[in-house]
Amino acid sequence: MKWVTVDRISGYEGEVVQLKGWIANRRSSGKVRFLLVRDGHGTIQCVVGAHDVAPEAFELADKVPYESSIVVTGTVKRDPRSPVGFELAVSDLQLVSEAQPYPISKKDHGVGFLMDHRHLWLRSSRQAALMKIRAAVSKAARDYFDELGFTAVEAPILTPTACEGTTSLFQVGYFEGSAYLTQSGQLYGEAAAMALGTIYVFGPTFRAEKSKTRRHLTEFWMIEPEMAFWEFPETIDLAEGMICRIVRDVLERCAEPLRALERDVSTLEKVTAPFPRITYSEAIDILKERGLPIQWGDDLGGDEETVLSEAFDRPLFVTHYPAAIKAFYMKRDPNDPRLALAVDLLAPEGHGEIIGGGQREDSLEKLEETLALHGLDRGPLEWYLDLRRYGSVPHAGFGLGIERCVAWIAGIHHVRETIAFPRLMDRLYP
Ligand code: 4AD
Ligand code: MG
Repeated sequence: MKWVTVDRISGYEGEVVQLKGWIANRRSSGKVRFLLVRDGHGTIQCVVGAHDVAPEAFELADKVPYESSIVVTGTVKRDPRSPVGFELAVSDLQLVSEAQPYPISKKDHGVGFLMDHRHLWLRSSRQAALMKIRAAVSKAARDYFDELGFTAVEAPILTPTACEGTTSLFQVGYFEGSAYLTQSGQLYGEAAAMALGTIYVFGPTFRAEKSKTRRHLTEFWMIEPEMAFWEFPETIDLAEGMICRIVRDVLERCAEPLRALERDVSTLEKVTAPFPRITYSEAIDILKERGLPIQWGDDLGGDEETVLSEAFDRPLFVTHYPAAIKAFYMKRDPNDPRLALAVDLLAPEGHGEIIGGGQREDSLEKLEETLALHGLDRGPLEWYLDLRRYGSVPHAGFGLGIERCVAWIAGIHHVRETIAFPRLMDRLYP
């Protein structure tokens, strides 16, 4: 007997096949039982007629609890009313494992309860749709760089130093000493770019951020390209191209998940180059005009980013931030040394920053100065300084946070639903 998955069912019209999955729903009407079977690839209605199956199978269809696992055998029938276009006329039904009473019901549960049951909540169609979109976002980003000839390089998770400031480091025991979980693969990415030209690091990153906002996780995934001999403007173009590619691929490949989330895709269809580009100073002017209490020199927080990103109908690049509010590795703007060649990309519809990056300081002397200015210990960064000692070149890169990108594209409010098992300040379970 041929085992098929729901997404492939259209190729088997009129044939007898097997489906393996879980009972998502069940109802009865006279001598017919309707089982909604979910197999991870889709959900399909299986019709069990009292006269078409053995009495034990009919009884099973009558009583099988939600989320029990089963194997269904039947004939694939076209059905225009079905969301998948087909249903299964069942000839046999085998129980794999009977489920205990399922804790998640159709009624509204609070987010805390659902997060405590995240391992089960993932089975819901909405959560599954988010995971599909997430996978498509990651793949599109990888494909984009792979096709441009970038080499994928892994950066270590256990590191001796901070990359993005010392206030959000997770310290872990490392034999007699200690290590930190990486905040960004960037510094290693820079070393790899000097070896391989253009590279990207894609992996988990960690921030012990005491921020309970809809945008902050303590563990999140970042894709970080780094390019030797690239400067600021072309790096922004690269980010723009990547975002357009991601949105295009998700629209093409995730029509069904986007529908399941009731995402208004018209706003995504507008995501075409060029994106507007404004400087930090212009951003401050816009914010002041709108009555926000902000001064030149202040960092943009969640509220400011929301206002800016709602002011434009596509992603917005903000460039040339004050160097003082950016990381130590940022190159100064040669035209105005108060500024850094830094760029953030703010996603539209109020989602805020999804990309941070810019050109890196390539002068050994200047980098030594800023390290001191930031009060960072040089010792564990000598290797990084070596990159400026041995054939330093202009170079640049950026990091895209996958979860924030998925939240925007999927149109959901909080990043906690964009990763299978979110890690938040107050959540380490399950
Ligand atoms: O702006 P960030 O801190 O930049 C860097 O880490 C650079 N080293 C990247 C680079 O140039 N290679 O972080 C980059 C992105 C943010 O724009 C955001 O999308 C995401 O990472 N991010 C977070 N996502 C979820 N939770 C958090 N706590 C995040 N912190 C940053
Ligand atoms: Mg940032």
